[in-house]
Amino acid sequence: MSINSTGYQTGFGNEFASEALAGTLPAGRNSPQRVAHGLYAEQLTGTAFTAPRHANRRNWLYRIRPAAVHGAFAPFVQPRFHNDFGSGPVTPEQLRWDPLPLAEASTDFIEGLYTMAGNGSPAAQAGLGIHLYAANRDMQGRWFYDADGELLIVPQQGRLHIETELGVLDVEPQEIALIPRGIRFRVTLPDGAARGYVCENFGAMFKLPDLGPIGSNGLANPRDFLIPNAVYEDIEGAFELVGKFQGHLWRADIGHSPLDVVGWHGNYVPCKYDLRRFNTIGSISYDHPDPSIFLVLHSPSDTPGTSNIDFAIFPPRWLVAQDTFRPPWFHRNIASEFMGLVHGVYDAKADGFVPGGASLHNSMTGHGPDAATFEKASAADLSKPDVIVDTMAIMFETRAVIRPTQQALDAAHRQRNYQACWAGLRKHFAAPGNGR
Ligand SMILES: [Fe+2]
Repeated sequence: MSINSTGYQTGFGNEFASEALAGTLPAGRNSPQRVAHGLYAEQLTGTAFTAPRHANRRNWLYRIRPAAVHGAFAPFVQPRFHNDFGSGPVTPEQLRWDPLPLAEASTDFIEGLYTMAGNGSPAAQAGLGIHLYAANRDMQGRWFYDADGELLIVPQQGRLHIETELGVLDVEPQEIALIPRGIRFRVTLPDGAARGYVCENFGAMFKLPDLGPIGSNGLANPRDFLIPNAVYEDIEGAFELVGKFQGHLWRADIGHSPLDVVGWHGNYVPCKYDLRRFNTIGSISYDHPDPSIFLVLHSPSDTPGTSNIDFAIFPPRWLVAQDTFRPPWFHRNIASEFMGLVHGVYDAKADGFVPGGASLHNSMTGHGPDAATFEKASAADLSKPDVIVDTMAIMFETRAVIRPTQQALDAAHRQRNYQACWAGLRKHFAAPGNGR
């Protein structure tokens, strides 16, 4: 059984409305004494009741049964998916991983989640969890919600069919899905094997960045965000609801599908976005801007200009800057950077960083192009533009240090010789007059 997409609405952060049965949405009030078709009215709020109007997020759901109808919760065992980022020393070492191996045993999306790193906590309502997934089976008779954070899902291999309470998102590699905290959903796998990245945002909801001098267009345009239409299933059976709450997983029996919302309106909505639609902006003279120019979405913190999370991408683009080292430069940042590669080749590394792989460069840890990339770019003919067509790298960047999990440090797919990629950076310096 599955429910299918019924098309999309477009926009980001504005009010949406959809009904799968005509006449479901009440006119003039949110909770009439009796809802059409014998449905229940239920509010779902994603921000404080008194959040400013521009940031206030809530939905009204008109559903067959309220979300309260299910059995008691008990622990659900999936030890690879958690928020235990440790409290001991954290290595400042540059870290890199090969792709998470594809699932061999029968594994659904929840069973296939694998926590790589993170910071903060759900209790603090700040920070993030960084997870990978590798799955090969549909979630069967099982639905999931994450009370701890908003989920930014980045498929790297295989499409995801994500059925949510508000409707269906079909996403493929180079697209992303954004599922708000608490929304119940099920993932099925049209292509079988699936792998990707998940950013679990414990802080303020992702939003589009302000554009400042860029003007009123550019980067990710609001009209390219797709919001599902209402679709519901009215089925009963011996099913399971899995929830993530304060870093741990729980399960409860549920006798019906929780995807029973017949109509809804509001602005607390799942959405998808095609990263290939990102309007990339860069230098057309010399140097290149900071990577914030590639910002797709960010989760603001309480400090102006300093994000809890920046989600940036490094998409196909022209490189035309003159008298300029064109790849990303050598750098150390106060921010901490977790990167992945969805597709193709990343222009700062000649090899070793492959689709499905990951790297972590923490605060003030030096990194940048490998020796082969440095030598090539230093000798490149800058009279001609370069075009990078076959690439889609992603970055989860945070103000707080990103703490790798013990399983990520111990993983067989960790590259223990990563530093070697810089070992070939030769000394070129020669002071004039020193006899050389
Ligand atoms: Fe970096």
